[in-house]
Amino acid sequence: MADEMEESMANQVSNSLDKTVLEKPIYQGIMAFATVEKFVSTSDKDYVPPKFPFDLPSFNRSSTFGVEMRKHFFLDLDNWTFLNHGAFGCVLKEALEAAFKWQCYAERQPVRFVDREMLPHLAHVNRRLANFVGCDPSDIVLLPNATFAINTVIKSIAWRPGDTVYFLNTCYYTVKKLFRHISSEHGVVLKEITITFPATSEEIIQRIKETLEEGTRLAVFGHIPSNYPIVMPVEEIVQLCHRKRVPVLIDGAHALGTLPLNLTVLKADYYVGNAHKWLACPKGCGFLCVSKDNQHMIKPLVVSSGFTAGFNSQFIWTGLRDYSPYLALNTVLDFWEAMGPDQIRQYNNTLANKAALMLADKWGTGLLSHADMFGPMVLIRLPEVLLDCVTRGYEDEPVKAHAEMVQAKLHYEFSIEVPVKLIQGKLHTRISAHVYNELSDYDKLCEAILIMTNDVCNNPAAYDTYKNYR
Ligand SMILES: Cc1ncc(COP(=O)(O)O)c(C=O)c1O
Repeated sequence: MADEMEESMANQVSNSLDKTVLEKPIYQGIMAFATVEKFVSTSDKDYVPPKFPFDLPSFNRSSTFGVEMRKHFFLDLDNWTFLNHGAFGCVLKEALEAAFKWQCYAERQPVRFVDREMLPHLAHVNRRLANFVGCDPSDIVLLPNATFAINTVIKSIAWRPGDTVYFLNTCYYTVKKLFRHISSEHGVVLKEITITFPATSEEIIQRIKETLEEGTRLAVFGHIPSNYPIVMPVEEIVQLCHRKRVPVLIDGAHALGTLPLNLTVLKADYYVGNAHKWLACPKGCGFLCVSKDNQHMIKPLVVSSGFTAGFNSQFIWTGLRDYSPYLALNTVLDFWEAMGPDQIRQYNNTLANKAALMLADKWGTGLLSHADMFGPMVLIRLPEVLLDCVTRGYEDEPVKAHAEMVQAKLHYEFSIEVPVKLIQGKLHTRISAHVYNELSDYDKLCEAILIMTNDVCNNPAAYDTYKNYR
């Protein structure tokens, strides 16, 4: 019956906002970028944070992770085994609700919010994020994602024909596409160096030492590359690049939330990251940190009102759009601070490690590299018979599509979401572990692969079932 219908979420939020009292804004000016620069550069001691216009959720520290944490996510874990946080993250429920609250609040008086209230709140999350990643708030800017941030750096550089970009085969594929683009536009030389796994950190550093030349215009490294998810020894790599006087960009798309970061100590020229992956922020929240020496040459992809008003100002406003994923960082960071970043990381890393060793053992395979090099994502080799099965009847070398056939079977027939990748000519699966996962999730994957392996070994007709997914 209509009168018993649930109140819409928008109405619920709107009613809850009725109880809020608007404080007089800290700043009166419209698009007052000087105020933004002041907000990010003021010392902690003198900084007066803006008052939130409504109550944000609070969190109690939980002593247990796993099933206990599932209430904080929208994930349908009754029907799915979800082992792929690394792909597109998964938002913290309270943070998405907070983003919606910010949107509803903004729409109550859009001009007041955008003109007079929003910039101090954006500057505030900028400061909080800076604190979390250990850098000066005036060196870091919020951007929609890591892709945006990397493009910002690459497209700011005044490339000359013959300049060299140095990167490893582990570099993210869209970043390689960007390099190919600047190569064709500006005649930039691309130097891609292959690392073969297993490899120790020392071997990786040695390979870079031998192949990186002075005069290289830019070197780019993933902190945790997505297809080879080892934690790269970036501290040593940055020092090595600087000894050779090569500027360095670290792609930390998977690092925020998975590693304790101290960007001031790291001293990379450019560091990019995502908050919408492991930190569980609503989608559309990443960052770029630029060392002071390089800030003069880094320009936003989108020129808007804050252009020329200062490093932070030129990025903080890129025209009218939805800034709620940034504002929701307050709630995400409240969650992390309440649960304890070290505790979360410890849980995720330990779980991924245990699960990976269990899977490799039960499947009689191994990991891509040494177990202690991985964080909360691990690459485990699948039994070889699966590759024989999916490539049977095809003359060509195994390709990505073969891995996708196994991934699709796991998705459609076992309701398991986990990527399958072809790495160094062999099928691997990349498991992820986040606070909502438990060891029993990986038992389901273990069992599914054993069933699939058994099937193709004992039942020739099983080969055909993979063809549906080609
Ligand atoms: C290493 C790496 N860099 C960059 C990106 C791009 O991230 P986004 O799509 O959020 O821009 C990804 C995405 O998975 C990644 O794994």
